[in-house]
Amino acid sequence: MKHIRLSIIGFGVVGQGLAELLTTKQALLRRDFGLEVTLISVANARHGFIYREDGLDIPTLLELAAARRPLTEHPGIQHWAHPLDGLQATGGDVLAEATGTNLRDAEPGMSHIRAALAQGMHVITANKGPAALAAQELFALAQQYGVQLRMESTVMAGTPVLSTIREGMAGTSVSAIRGILNGTTNYILSAMSTGRDYREVLAEAQALGFAEADPTADVEGYDALAKILILAFLVFGRSLKPADVFRQGIISITREQVQRAIENDRRIKLIASLVSHPEDDTLEAKVAPIELPLSDPLSRVDGVMNAITIHSDTLLEVTVIGPGAGRIQTGQGLLADLLAIAHTQ
Ligand SMILES: NC(=O)c1ccc[n+]([C@@H]2O[C@H](COP(=O)([O-])OP(=O)(O)OC[C@H]3O[C@@H](n4cnc5c(N)ncnc54)[C@H](OP(=O)(O)O)[C@@H]3O)[C@@H](O)[C@H]2O)c1
Repeated sequence: MKHIRLSIIGFGVVGQGLAELLTTKQALLRRDFGLEVTLISVANARHGFIYREDGLDIPTLLELAAARRPLTEHPGIQHWAHPLDGLQATGGDVLAEATGTNLRDAEPGMSHIRAALAQGMHVITANKGPAALAAQELFALAQQYGVQLRMESTVMAGTPVLSTIREGMAGTSVSAIRGILNGTTNYILSAMSTGRDYREVLAEAQALGFAEADPTADVEGYDALAKILILAFLVFGRSLKPADVFRQGIISITREQVQRAIENDRRIKLIASLVSHPEDDTLEAKVAPIELPLSDPLSRVDGVMNAITIHSDTLLEVTVIGPGAGRIQTGQGLLADLLAIAHTQ
């Protein structure tokens, strides 16, 4: 039996989703992967970092988190006020980093990931900030310390996009990628295609929990832009900056524009794209609302669903459709990364 000692920093929707999967999938992990995962430490912003050498009890942690009670009520733990101090004192085999995405300076995730890699821990992360702004530095650090950095759930949550391209499609030459990489905007545009107004649909999406109270990151295209930066590095080996990406959100799309597109057998979608131009060695990066013909598989992806089409020499077009968010769906991406690491141990 292999044994992994896991630390989770960021114990919100996604961190708890991963923890839940570790209990619901415990028998499967033992049977199919010969793997025992012990959750040794957990941290959030309010309660700091807790550690128990023999492992934390996940149902207890989930109960405390659901009741918004201090995680420090877990019996038999050691506690540090600052996650970095706790992590440095206690270590582990793998860090799952799931704090909030910050596209200004990628903190606090950046410091957590740097510290873990530098002390020889593998890192799996759902956090788009470090992945979008500093992938090159972090992968170099991982290489320096002989550990892995995996980030499947940063793009389309647990839907396997990065592993499909990097592992499943190994050996292809990818020429372009086009995707619906933000569920909130796809929900809004899909609902507008039934004749409703942007404002009304946005309010509904907020009430249903599909859109944040401040929807800027989604509707202005910043969330999709972050994913484009991640794909640019992982698929094309290019470190783009946010300013290198043409970005247009959906806030100025009117009901009339959406209806006119439908009358012409087209659908407006927020498309994030990367197109390689080998003739001048450039990579064109864009997030913008585009009218797609119905023959394009992306035109038929509705609601909060995400999708990506990968254009390559050997497979021509491959389209992957699946969930792009959610507690268990994103936890699944982290679990797949954890299993990929366990496989190489
Ligand atoms: N939710 C999704 O469906 C989804 C999908 C794909 C990717 N992601 C990414 O996954 C990450 C987590 O998302 P989420 O939905 O789980 O967010 P969330 O519910 O807001 O949870 C964030 C967690 O990070 C903790 N945190 C913040 N600052 C911290 C610090 N300095 N030290 C330790 N913990 C800190 C928060 O602590 P408190 O609990 O004390 O506030 C909270 O537990 C984000 O980067 C997000 O973009 C999410």
